[in-house]
Amino acid sequence: MADIFYDKQCDLSSLENLTLAVVGYGNQGRAHALNLKDSGLNVITGTRAGSKSCQQAKDDGMPFFEIPEAAARADLIAVLLPDEQMPRVVSKEILPNAKKGTAFVFAHGFAVHHKTISLPTDSDIILVAPTGPGRQLRSLYQEGLGLPALIAVEQDASGMAWQRCLSYAHGIGATRAGAIKTSFQEETVTDLFCEQAVLCGGLPELIKASFDTLVSQGYQSELAYISCLKEVKLIADLLFQQGIDGMRAAISNTAKYGSALAGPQIINSNTREQLARVLKRIETGDFAKDFIEDSSHGNPTIKELMKTERHSRIAKVGRELKENLIF
Ligand SMILES: NC(=O)c1ccc[n+]([C@@H]2O[C@H](COP(=O)([O-])OP(=O)(O)OC[C@H]3O[C@@H](n4cnc5c(N)ncnc54)[C@H](OP(=O)(O)O)[C@@H]3O)[C@@H](O)[C@H]2O)c1
Repeated sequence: MADIFYDKQCDLSSLENLTLAVVGYGNQGRAHALNLKDSGLNVITGTRAGSKSCQQAKDDGMPFFEIPEAAARADLIAVLLPDEQMPRVVSKEILPNAKKGTAFVFAHGFAVHHKTISLPTDSDIILVAPTGPGRQLRSLYQEGLGLPALIAVEQDASGMAWQRCLSYAHGIGATRAGAIKTSFQEETVTDLFCEQAVLCGGLPELIKASFDTLVSQGYQSELAYISCLKEVKLIADLLFQQGIDGMRAAISNTAKYGSALAGPQIINSNTREQLARVLKRIETGDFAKDFIEDSSHGNPTIKELMKTERHSRIAKVGRELKENLIF
């Protein structure tokens, strides 16, 4: 069993006398800052002046500064920026202003593991990666619950990095649910692999291919959309709550029998070889290199993907259904 830490094993004491700067006030940043503040810690935020995030911090009553100023005031900086923006912002705006010995917290191991940024040897380097979006991290916290997180220490310069890591996880509410010990390498690889293979890569492609198969054989596109895409939520909820065996137990015998035959035909040895290839590309760092390169040219691959998706038949059907069905 993995090492899992809960509220009773940690407290906030290692962060109580520190100024915590949350840099980036987006999906994760806003939730971390609000939860840490509501836990009684001293939080400031660092944003671009005049940006949407800056306005949001202001509306939330958060002390806000431009990033260099927030970095200068902080004892611990949570770097909650898009992964591809970290190299420039960390090297140009944070490090030139941060105090000696400032600790750094990340919500994803990408920049540290792939060495797209370089941090001082006298800094603690800590990972507290919530296992879901900031909105959920915040709403669960407000309900008195928590979202599990993955936690790790890459560099313990102060001798206090683990206590700080646990205090931070406690402060955002993650140890109410459980904080699982990992490494920056393991969190980065598993997160990237899973989003590519299942969540954002494999699953949407399977939905699109199945939709196209039905529609190309003359079946109504609206029915294809509902069966192949909308109903994923029902199965995802079952998987989330009960795992694969529980999901299978909850479906009809027709569905059980059909899935026993069709599942392994679709996810066959060839698919498994492709999965191993995707994993290898992440492990070698080739994926990270290509992503950073693409991002430095204005994200042409992402733009092309978004354009293709927007104009696809499945997207058009989805938009039409949204206007005509209360579902
Ligand atoms: N999203 C998730 O569900 C999730 C889950 C777990 C971990 N993470 C990790 O959390 C970290 C933050 O991701 P996120 O999804 O919270 O990002 P996000 O929602 O895109 O927010 C990014 C924030 O950074 C600011 N920003 C963007 N580019 C900037 C730049 N060049 N200079 C200064 N500020 C800039 C944005 O402010 P402006 O208003 O100024 O643009 C915004 O406040 C990443 O490491 C990510 O991998 C995300």
